[in-house]
Amino acid sequence: MYVIAHLSDPHLDGSPAARDRLRAVTQYVRGFSRPVDVVLVTGDLADHGLESEYEEVAAELAFDVPVLMLPGNHDISAPLRAGLSSYVDSPGDGHPVHQVRDVGEARFILLDTSVPGEDHGLLSPASLSWLAETLDDPWDGLHFVAFHHPPIPLQHPVLDQWILRDSDAFADVLRGRPITALLTGHVHNGASTTFAGHPLLVAPGIRSTAPLPFEPPAAKGLVDLQAAPGLAIHVAVPSQPLITVYRPVPST
Ligand SMILES: [Fe+2]
Ligand SMILES: [Fe+2]
Repeated sequence: MYVIAHLSDPHLDGSPAARDRLRAVTQYVRGFSRPVDVVLVTGDLADHGLESEYEEVAAELAFDVPVLMLPGNHDISAPLRAGLSSYVDSPGDGHPVHQVRDVGEARFILLDTSVPGEDHGLLSPASLSWLAETLDDPWDGLHFVAFHHPPIPLQHPVLDQWILRDSDAFADVLRGRPITALLTGHVHNGASTTFAGHPLLVAPGIRSTAPLPFEPPAAKGLVDLQAAPGLAIHVAVPSQPLITVYRPVPST
């Protein structure tokens, strides 16, 4: 069995409110009787991309198991690389922050879909070429591609403006490849669908939840800051399809 704790969108900003919501989730994961194999955080680590915020991210996400992180639209490459140098292993010194990380029997291709100064996502031709070459490298195990911006609309009238653009080219690279699942965040909703023939699993937003327009809190605005934070727990068992449990974790 291989277990991934998939967190997303903590948006740490130095405030107790943001910190406490992340801490509720991390404390929950630390309480597992069977430690997870890896913790994955799919972006919007910091709210403003400040180095001080990344220092807080580094401190709050210290685990005894490997922790993988990738950037979202709220993150900024240079301070992220500086503040999270013990977590992020990416060639170069600027944007994008792509990574390939092997943790036990699983390979994680961590894509940077962010566009500096913008909220939507985009993968440049160079990034797509890098992804294709990386996927050409044979890997006989679990194989995940993780990134921040979902490549398809998830029926949210506001957030759908800021998903990954030009996703057809991305689909062309992914289609037919031996990929266990695509793991994303950004839309502050736990969600499950498919893309390019692969499972597309979206982790809930730790900082807030973005209700669908027909849900009761919709009248309160874009985000619900009171809904419980949570995480996705991906469980891989040999010869079985991947299992994902979405777990809300009430914070105090
Ligand atoms: Fe976010
Ligand atoms: Fe985001």
